[in-house]
Amino acid sequence: MPETKITDDVAQAAEALRQGLIVAFPTETVYGLGVDATNSAAIERLFEAKGRPSDNPLIVHIGKLEQWTTVATRLTQSAELLLKAFAPGPITVVVEKAGGISELATAGLHTVGLRIPGHERARRLLELCDLPIAAPSANRSGKPSCTTWKAVLEDMDGRIDYVLRGDVCDVGLESTVVDCTGRHPIVLRAGRISLKQLQSIIPTTKMFSVDDGQAIHDLPSPGVRHAHYQPRASVVLFESIDELSGLTASQRSHAALAALSDLLRNAGNKQLLQGFAMVQGFDSIEHYGREFYELLRSVDRCSLATIYLQLVDTSDATAALRDRQLRAAGKS
Ligand code: TXA
Ligand code: MG
Repeated sequence: MPETKITDDVAQAAEALRQGLIVAFPTETVYGLGVDATNSAAIERLFEAKGRPSDNPLIVHIGKLEQWTTVATRLTQSAELLLKAFAPGPITVVVEKAGGISELATAGLHTVGLRIPGHERARRLLELCDLPIAAPSANRSGKPSCTTWKAVLEDMDGRIDYVLRGDVCDVGLESTVVDCTGRHPIVLRAGRISLKQLQSIIPTTKMFSVDDGQAIHDLPSPGVRHAHYQPRASVVLFESIDELSGLTASQRSHAALAALSDLLRNAGNKQLLQGFAMVQGFDSIEHYGREFYELLRSVDRCSLATIYLQLVDTSDATAALRDRQLRAAGKS
């Protein structure tokens, strides 16, 4: 078992990556567990440390667009347009994989997810180590992602070599993953860059549906088959405060309640909000998204039995958060 060292020194973290070690680092979306994407032995160790199923491919990160040739054989026109519009930033494009990237990183697929994080420390790290870095989210497989370095330690202490410290992640939900290998871009995972934003660059972009996927690959988004983002506590989704009316005092005292502040403020019957061990309100969808994973983790830290989460409605801006909510509740 490695001793996990915590560092603020980006150069030291870059050197560790060059040596084939596992380094957690901050990005604008969530923390990642970085490893040299060309080093199969290091990648094997990463899958083991995370407890990740070997059929779920990793996203490969670079510090600047000019490094793309280390990751992909070519950029399709759609990949290039989307990267120019939204990278560095919370977007991943799926393209044809370059020979140097380990087959283990892409779970044997001939495609690879390519991402240039917008986070300044992440970019410095990637530029300094000058390698394509495979990095899944820094949680143990199946658990909520990590948006603070302390959350990374909770899951990964004694399993990885370094944690490069940083602030709380600004976006809080993972990047938008867009398959750019076909005739039209297809969103495989919703994220901060919304469908409408993508369509403003390429109007034919659409959300993945099972029918498309079967026509394109047999494994459209391999990650979607596994359980994700689930705390130990049960996650119960609600849309109206009235749905909380049947809860007993004892159920409330072992539960957390989280919703948009508007819903809490406008609740007709304020009694329905009483007696919870924890109540959290969010000013906006962005705020809810930023705090979402840390909320799920704090419920487990307090050993609560249940978290009641307001399920956000369906819209362009809420797609990413709603997707994570449904998955956290085991409903997707
Ligand atoms: O924001 C993010 O993307 C974060 C930070 C660390 O960059 N990373 C992240 O990685 O969320 P991970 O491993 O937790 O999720 C990667 C997702 C999975 O759903 C995986 O199936 C999908 O991307 N993916 C990766 N490579 C793919 C490929 N070649 N084709 C289709 N889907 C792919
Ligand atoms: Mg993940």
